[in-house]
Amino acid sequence: MNEIIKSLFARKSVRRYEARPITDEEKNLILQAALQAPTAGNQNLYTILDITDDDLKLSLSKYCDNQPFIAKAPLALVFLADCRRWFDSYQFAGITPRPPEEGDLLLAAADAVIAAQNTVVAAQALGIGSCYIGDILEQEENVRKALNLDEYVFPAAFVVYGYPSKSQIEREKPARPPLSCIVQENRYRRLSENEHLDMFIKKGSIKDNNEFREYISAFYERKYNSDFAGEMNRSAKLYLKHFKDLK
Ligand SMILES: Cc1cc2nc3c(=O)[nH]c(=O)nc-3n(C[C@H](O)[C@H](O)[C@H](O)COP(=O)(O)O)c2cc1C
Repeated sequence: MNEIIKSLFARKSVRRYEARPITDEEKNLILQAALQAPTAGNQNLYTILDITDDDLKLSLSKYCDNQPFIAKAPLALVFLADCRRWFDSYQFAGITPRPPEEGDLLLAAADAVIAAQNTVVAAQALGIGSCYIGDILEQEENVRKALNLDEYVFPAAFVVYGYPSKSQIEREKPARPPLSCIVQENRYRRLSENEHLDMFIKKGSIKDNNEFREYISAFYERKYNSDFAGEMNRSAKLYLKHFKDLK
């Protein structure tokens, strides 16, 4: 198999790291890889925060639903959807720009996440593992203050990196659903109840209908209806409100 495709298939989230540091040269390659990502209008609508302050990393590990492995990661990057940089360029060029709106934010968020994924792929190619931290969306007040976030920037992605521990190398990658459940032709259609059941059976999560109910109920409570999901939604509303307030 092609080496790049092989690497994409081999990647899995890594949450425990060897003491081995990531060198400056490796970090530079990872960051340069971010810049090579496609970006809307070639605008690079993102800013990357390299979290080198250990106290700040520890605070983020707490704000992000208390995940201690974050503080232990040799490299931690926050990808900010940045609607400020171009807004300021316009102003410095003598324009009175309209304030950024929802569409601008979504475009910048896409840019930021695509850049983040390039770093994940580059790290994997160097033998360095990584893990996204979705909980960066929690605790807007604390994260905004800790990272000195501007009203026009939004933490679209947080990724931590490090050489994988032996246990992480040996850990099996979580299964994926079959492609037939994920890819549809031309137009969207909702999956039927049977197709849902089939998807989770094929993914290896359950064996039958009884297990389906049990598995999905437990998942619902653990993820979708969890305290952290509630906090993430509360916090995300505040980020959006800041955008709206400034109009
Ligand atoms: C947007 C996003 C947010 C995530 N947030 C977390 C997180 O906060 N903590 C964590 O341990 N893993 C997190 N993950 C990793 C997922 O749990 C992981 O990608 C998923 O279980 C599939 O496993 P794999 O990456 O090993 O293939 C996140 C992944 C993504 C894409």
